[in-house]
Amino acid sequence: MHELLISPSILSADFARLGEEVRAVDAAGADWIHVDVMDGHFVPNLTIGPAVVKALRPYTDKPFDVHLMVAPVDLWLAPFAEAGADVITVHPEAGPHIHRTVQAIKALGKRAGVSLNPGTPAKMLDYLIDEIDLVLVMSVNPGFGGQSFIASQLRKIEAVRKAIDKSGRDIRLEVDGGINPETARQCVAAGADVLVAGSATFAGGPDRYAANIAALRGGG
Ligand code: DX5
Ligand code: ZN
Repeated sequence: MHELLISPSILSADFARLGEEVRAVDAAGADWIHVDVMDGHFVPNLTIGPAVVKALRPYTDKPFDVHLMVAPVDLWLAPFAEAGADVITVHPEAGPHIHRTVQAIKALGKRAGVSLNPGTPAKMLDYLIDEIDLVLVMSVNPGFGGQSFIASQLRKIEAVRKAIDKSGRDIRLEVDGGINPETARQCVAAGADVLVAGSATFAGGPDRYAANIAALRGGG
């Protein structure tokens, strides 16, 4: 398995100082930067667009892990790719043709992720696993930071881990929502190798970021 990566969600950052926040979590040991894009339609919240991703790009060399919670999603792939996304993750429910959407992400030269909502079965991946670079298991319903981890998703993480190992492909298994040091440990035990953390990273302000990230890795 891969080494564990921590991907802080900037949804919990100070939006008035977003560039500085990205620089601070980079310096504090973040591996990726998780960008939650919400449209007020696919999910009941509205966040940021490609202009913000482009503005943040000079603040870090770490990969931008862009989680698109927008529908229809296809028309947003190129704008986010051009803005500087490295991984682009989409929900199967956000368009009529998930296989085609995955191909479109890869045609843009980006890593393609598929995200499973808490109610979406792991089986959804059966005919996508040979195409994708990342699976994102949502351990909360998408839309907001600071929600509680849904424990039933641990079984899904185990199932996805088996499917990835069976495929023999280099696919990252990411978990998003309600991650704290305790749920992080459970997710890693179930087979996750990328953890998204918003509130647990940004809690306490910049002086705490390094300790918060270390705690998620199990070292705090
Ligand atoms: C929820 C987002 C998450 C969220 C995580 O829709 O996809 O990335 O910001 O926030 P925490 O870590 O606070 O649960
Ligand atoms: Zn997310």
